[in-house]
Amino acid sequence: MSRVIVIASGKGGVGKTTIAANLGICLGQAERKTALVDLDLGLRNIDVTLGLETVVLNHLGDYFEERMPLEEVVTTDERYPGLALLAAPQNMDPADLKEEQLEKLVQELRASYDVILIDAPAGVGPVFTAAIKLADEGVVVTTPTVSAVRDADKVLHLMEAAGVQYRYVIVNMLRQKLMKNGIMMSPEDIREVLGTPLLGVIPEDETAVVCCNTGKPLVTARCMAGSALRRISQRVRGTALSLPPLTSRRRGLFHA
Ligand SMILES: Nc1ncnc2c1ncn2[C@@H]1O[C@H](COP(=O)(O)OP(=O)(O)O)[C@@H](O)[C@H]1O
Ligand SMILES: [Mg+2]
Repeated sequence: MSRVIVIASGKGGVGKTTIAANLGICLGQAERKTALVDLDLGLRNIDVTLGLETVVLNHLGDYFEERMPLEEVVTTDERYPGLALLAAPQNMDPADLKEEQLEKLVQELRASYDVILIDAPAGVGPVFTAAIKLADEGVVVTTPTVSAVRDADKVLHLMEAAGVQYRYVIVNMLRQKLMKNGIMMSPEDIREVLGTPLLGVIPEDETAVVCCNTGKPLVTARCMAGSALRRISQRVRGTALSLPPLTSRRRGLFHA
C-alpha cells in the first residue's frame, strides 16, 4: 500500500522544502520507490535544494495540461537512487489547479510509488486544501514561535477535518539558548499546545542554509540538523526511535 504524506505549514520559510527534499533522499535510498511532488506551483524551489535545477527538463504543468504523460515529467538522478522528483511549474497560477488534476496525479503515483511526499505551499489556500483531501498522513512543520505554532494549529485542524488519518509535527530551527531562557517555546510546550505527536526536532543550524544554497543534501552532512533529519526519516519508515529528552537541559538534545 502506498503512503501519501503531505508536508505543510501555516507560515512560509519554516523549512518544509528542506525537510521534504531530505526525507525524499532518505526514503528513496531505503529502496522505496519515492515520489517527491513540488506543489508550490509557480514558486518552484525543491529542485534547487536538491541541486537538480539544471537537470529538470519537464514539470508538473506539462502533466496537468496534458502535454506529457507522467513518466515524462519525472526527474531522476544517480545521486538520489529511488527518488523521483516532480518539479513545480515556474509560471503556473496555483488558482488554476483543478482538484481533479491533482487527484489523477496522486492516483497514478500511487500505482507506481511506495511513498508520495508532497511539499505543499505555505498556508491554507486551495492547493493545500486539495492536497490534504488525498493524503493519508500529514506532517506540519513549525518553528518554535508563538505565531508559527498558532498557524500550525489551524493547519492541523484542517487536516483532521479533511480526514488525514495520521498527523505529526516537526519543530524546526530550535534555538536551544532561547528555549533554555524561556524566550522560545520548547518542543514539549508545542506538543502540548498542539496535542499532536512530534515526529522530530531540528535545531537551527547554518549548515542547512549552506546545503540549501549549494544544492548539497543536508541529510548527508555531518551536522546537528542532518542527524535530526536522519532520525526523522527512520521514524517515517516505522522505526520506533525515542525522541530526544525534550525538556532536558543537558547537551546532546538532538542525539538521544
Ligand atoms: N534547521 C534549520 N536551520 C537553519 N536554517 C534552516 C533550517 N531549516 C531550513 N533552513 C533554511 O530556511 C530557509 C527556508 O527553508 P525552506 O525549506 O525553503 O522553507 P519553506 O519551504 O517552509 O518555505 C532556507 O534558507 C533553509 O536553508
Ligand atoms: Mg518551500
